[in-house]
Amino acid sequence: MSVSSPLAPGVPAKNGRGVETKSHPLQQDRRLDDLDRLRASHPMMDAIIEEVRGRKIRIGNKWLCDFASCNYLGFDLHPEIIASVERELWRWGTHPSWSRLLGNPRPYIEIEEQLTDLLGAPDTLLLPTITLIHASVIPVLAGHGTVLIDSQAHKTLYEGAAIARGAGATLCRVRTNDLGHLEQILRSLPSSTPRVFCIDGVNSMTGNAPDLPAYARICREYDALLYVDDAHGFGVIGESPSPEMPYGLRGNSIVRYFGESYDNIVLVGGFSKAYSSLLAFLALPTSLKNHLKVAAPPYLYSGPSPTASLATVLAGFRVNESEGEDLRMALYRKTIRVLDRVAELGLLTLNSSGFPIIELPLGERDDIDAVGRFLFDRGIYVTLAAYPLVPKSQVGFRVQVTAANGDDEIEQLNEVLGELAKCFDMQRAPTPG
Ligand SMILES: Cc1ncc(COP(=O)(O)O)c(C=O)c1O
Repeated sequence: MSVSSPLAPGVPAKNGRGVETKSHPLQQDRRLDDLDRLRASHPMMDAIIEEVRGRKIRIGNKWLCDFASCNYLGFDLHPEIIASVERELWRWGTHPSWSRLLGNPRPYIEIEEQLTDLLGAPDTLLLPTITLIHASVIPVLAGHGTVLIDSQAHKTLYEGAAIARGAGATLCRVRTNDLGHLEQILRSLPSSTPRVFCIDGVNSMTGNAPDLPAYARICREYDALLYVDDAHGFGVIGESPSPEMPYGLRGNSIVRYFGESYDNIVLVGGFSKAYSSLLAFLALPTSLKNHLKVAAPPYLYSGPSPTASLATVLAGFRVNESEGEDLRMALYRKTIRVLDRVAELGLLTLNSSGFPIIELPLGERDDIDAVGRFLFDRGIYVTLAAYPLVPKSQVGFRVQVTAANGDDEIEQLNEVLGELAKCFDMQRAPTPG
C-alpha cells in the first residue's frame, strides 16, 4: 500500500500546489495498513449500525445478534431508565456546560452519595470517562515517583502512565499474575517517593479478575497505592459471592467482591458499560478527592457528562436495587451456556471466571478476516481482537454476553460456534491430564 494520509486513507499527502510532500511520521505508521485491510475485508470493523432492536442490530440490510455490547445489565434498553431522561432534561437542559469546579447540577451530588454507599467506599468522585480519569489522575498520584503497570493492563492505563512519565515519573512494567515480580520491584524502590501499581479489575480480554487480596497485601506492606480499573466488573460482580449468586450481590465491584477494604486502594470504574451511561468514578479518600478537585484537569476544565447520562445513572441505581440480582443471575446463566458450549467443542478460552467476557483465540491469525466474514454472514456480531488492536499472539474474537441477549440468540451463537470450529483452526483447550 502506498503511504497515505491517516485522515484520508489511500490518498497520498500533497501540499497546496498538489505536489506530493514528504510524509509525516503518522503516515508511516504501518498499523494503518492493517486497519485499511480489515475495513475492506469484512464488515465488523468500524461498522455503521443503522438500527437497534433489543440486542439485535442492523448493518446495511443485515440483522445480527449483538455479542459486542458491554451493556451487561441491559440498562440501555430498560423502559424505566429510558423514561427517566425527559424529566431531567426539562429540569437541567440537555447539557449544562459548567466544568465541575464551576458548578455541579444536584444529580452529581446525589450520584456521588449513592455510589459511595453502594461501594462502601470512603468517598467517590465523578468525572466524564475512565480514559480522562487515568490521563489526569495517575500523573497526580505518581508525581516524581514510580508508576508500576501490569503488563496486560488496559491501553488507557498505559496512556495515563505515559502521561505520568512525561510529567516526571518512572514507568515500570510488572509481569502479569507475577506477585513475586511486583514485590521484587517494590522492594527496590525508595519508600520516600510515591509508588502506584496500576492493574485491571475484570480484564477486558480474559474476562478474569486478578488476585486482588494478594496484590492489596503487597501494596499495603510496601505502602504503595493499588490503582484498579474495574470498568468491566462494576455492575456485574459484587459483595458476598456464593454458589447461588456466583457474581455476588449488588454489582458493587471488585473490592467488595473480594471482601477487601479500600485501604491503599483507589478503585476506578465507569457507568459506560453495565450502566449504559457516559460517566465514570474514583472511589478514594476524601482528602484525595479534595486534592483532585484542584489538580485533575477534567474537574477544573472539562465539560460535564450530559444530563441524560446523569439521569440514567440515578435510574440505574433504582433498577439495580429492584432487579439487579435477577439480571445478574440471568447474565450468569447465559454466559455459562456459552462457556459450556466452548468446552464441549474443545476450544480454548482464557476465561476461567464465568464472567461474561469470552475471548476465543484463533490458531491461524491470518484467518481473522475470514472468521469475521463467517460470523457476520451467520448473523453474529462480536468484537474482533485483530492486530494491531491486540498483540499478534492474541488475535481472535471476543464474545460479550449481556442480560438483554435472548435465549434464542445464545442458541444461534452456540450453533455458529460449532460450525466455526469445523471450518477454522481455532486454538484448542489442553486435554485434562
Ligand atoms: C478496562 C477499560 N478501561 C477503560 C475503558 C475506557 O472507558 P471510558 O469509555 O469510560 O473512557 C475501557 C473501555 O473499553 C475498558 O475496557
